[in-house]
Amino acid sequence: MSVSRFYLVLFSGFALALPVSAIDYKTDVLPIMKEHCWKCHSNEEDVKGNLALDDLEEMRDYQVGKFNIIRPGNPEESSFLEKMKLPPGDTDFMPRKGEPLPKKKIEIIEKWIAEGAIIDSKNLAEKEAEFLKEKGETVDAAMVKKPDETFYKWTDSLGRELEARFMGLTENKPTAVKLLLRNGKNFNYPLSMLSEESRAQAKKLGGEE
Ligand code: HEC
Repeated sequence: MSVSRFYLVLFSGFALALPVSAIDYKTDVLPIMKEHCWKCHSNEEDVKGNLALDDLEEMRDYQVGKFNIIRPGNPEESSFLEKMKLPPGDTDFMPRKGEPLPKKKIEIIEKWIAEGAIIDSKNLAEKEAEFLKEKGETVDAAMVKKPDETFYKWTDSLGRELEARFMGLTENKPTAVKLLLRNGKNFNYPLSMLSEESRAQAKKLGGEE
């Protein structure tokens, strides 16, 4: 087989094996963040600079966007990536007081942003699906998450009731459920303070069981 044919076969195999957005935060970038950034940027440890890398919903809603620190399709203008590429002596360099990330990991992050900075490719938010469609990718509707607009009934351990929408669980060993009240107020309610039934409901809605 000629060299070019070899590459053709290799390439098409590759394309087949990797559907929409081959790379996503949850699988590819989060483990790198865990290794290098956790002690300063996670709800599990500490949240510096208002950046919690383990809160996937918050990452998607507030850190990824045209004018945010992570700009889908535009790694060059993403300050998130830029900080990791600075010389370690620079005041903006990240990880602060740490070693620069290996080139390979930087490349993964760069590629992730270039391909749309998708948080979870099996569970796309509408804005992520839009981005991929604009790039000309076919997006399976089953993979696009519809916002759940139901107001569920919640009870706390004392039997008090509340109606609120379910907005997710806090990431990583979830300790709280994110609720949205009818008046538009958001808050994180500790799972430990919910009734057993409501705790089960939160875990079920969050795909924890
Ligand atoms: C030793 C603590 C420490 C570590 C480790 C660390 N950071 Fe930071 N980071 C900070 C502090 C403190 C700030 C906020 C103050 C500032 O921006 O100078 C910050 C701010 C940031 C910001 C700016 C947030 C914003 O919205 O402006 C980004 C982006 C960032 N860090 C990314 C990272 C990444 C990525 C890693 C891992 C590769 C990392 N940091 C590791 C301490 C740390």
